[in-house]
Amino acid sequence: MRTQVVIIGSGPSGLLLGQLLHRAGIDTVVLERKSRDYVLSRVRAGVLEQGTVGLIEEAGVGARMRREGLVHDGFEIAFAGERHRVAITELTGGRSVMVYGQTEVTRDLMDGRDASGAPTVYEAEDVALHDFDGPSPRVTWRKDGVTHELVCDAIAGCDGYHGVSRASVPAGAIRTFERVYPFGWLGVLADVPPCAPELIYAAHDRGFALCSMRSTTRSRYYVQCPVDERIEDWSDDRFWDELRSRLGPEAAVAVTTGPSIEKSVAPLRSFVAEPMRFGRLFLAGDAAHIVPPTGAKGLNLAASDVRYLSDALIEHVRDGSEAALDRYSARALARVWKAERFSWWMTTMLHRFPEDEGFTARIKRAELDYLFSSRAALASLAENYVGLPY
Ligand code: APR
Ligand code: PHB
Repeated sequence: MRTQVVIIGSGPSGLLLGQLLHRAGIDTVVLERKSRDYVLSRVRAGVLEQGTVGLIEEAGVGARMRREGLVHDGFEIAFAGERHRVAITELTGGRSVMVYGQTEVTRDLMDGRDASGAPTVYEAEDVALHDFDGPSPRVTWRKDGVTHELVCDAIAGCDGYHGVSRASVPAGAIRTFERVYPFGWLGVLADVPPCAPELIYAAHDRGFALCSMRSTTRSRYYVQCPVDERIEDWSDDRFWDELRSRLGPEAAVAVTTGPSIEKSVAPLRSFVAEPMRFGRLFLAGDAAHIVPPTGAKGLNLAASDVRYLSDALIEHVRDGSEAALDRYSARALARVWKAERFSWWMTTMLHRFPEDEGFTARIKRAELDYLFSSRAALASLAENYVGLPY
């Protein structure tokens, strides 16, 4: 069997790429290790940059997002007992972000793919990449005990941080950069109204906290915790108490508590693999890079990779040119590293690190004081938050 592009992974990267290529008349097959329901059960971040919103629209699956998504033109940072607003729309000349869960984006993309008739193989086992250093790469997998093979022009490795694509590249051809943070995020999803109309990022001596939302009736909250924290040790009551203790009195009293519908601990990591292209294999999204969740750049970076990769593949198929494919890795990485910097900076400024005593504690406090005393500093934060241009 043959197709033009084999896409490994049906997360947001793979599905968005599939839709953009389909609309350009390029055939794809998506191979996914898990079931559709499993992919849709994962709870992830929920803030979309305007560029990501535009791509979802371009992919033809923006209708529900437009109806149900919440447009935000600001967010808050709470520290030293006070709340401060970052007026992102005013600071960026009219840009905003959209609060709409990644799970919903994935569902809309899956529905769009089904409607277009493009094939997805779920529960594909032992996916393996072959010959991507030559002109005719192949991908093999097993399904229900039968081995299958597809020959293609290009492979898109959209299979996340633990995927097979990056792992298939010879060690000498790839260089990785990594920072692991000495804490995690304990997240709770609950069907309660959010405590404020906009997101609140809180820097507190007890650690970071974040008030986010999925809708006007569903809240997503996080508190910084040790990475090896046992979820069993966190009753809902303990979580709500810890959250409120970090928010300051005004936001704390506005928190509506209720039973959690999801509770999990996520580690925080910065990671980049270079380059993002190996012959006819192209990495995109979490397969190539990870950001800590502060600032919600993960999905948005996946989207910008897909913008560059779809443009390159479309140009290649249309003109037979190699030039766009040759540019992909450098173009994508230039934006990736800026988002890595921003996510690292937000994480460092707002979290409590073990070494935050004395000098570093004072520097972090000065950084926050400076931020809210300088329009230039706030504009820089806002410009990154809404997303740098493609
Ligand atoms: N074979 C096939 N599929 C695989 C394999 C494999 N060997 N390994 C992983 N996958 C699948 C995973 O099951 C998952 O559904 O690849 C998909 C990768 O999806 P994501 O992890 O969501 O990565 P990506 O699409 O790049 O999305 C990036 O989503 O995951 C968040 O934090 C991430 O917000 C970021 C964004
Ligand atoms: C979320 O809603 O899950 C979320 C929002 C903003 C962030 C991180 C996560 O910076």
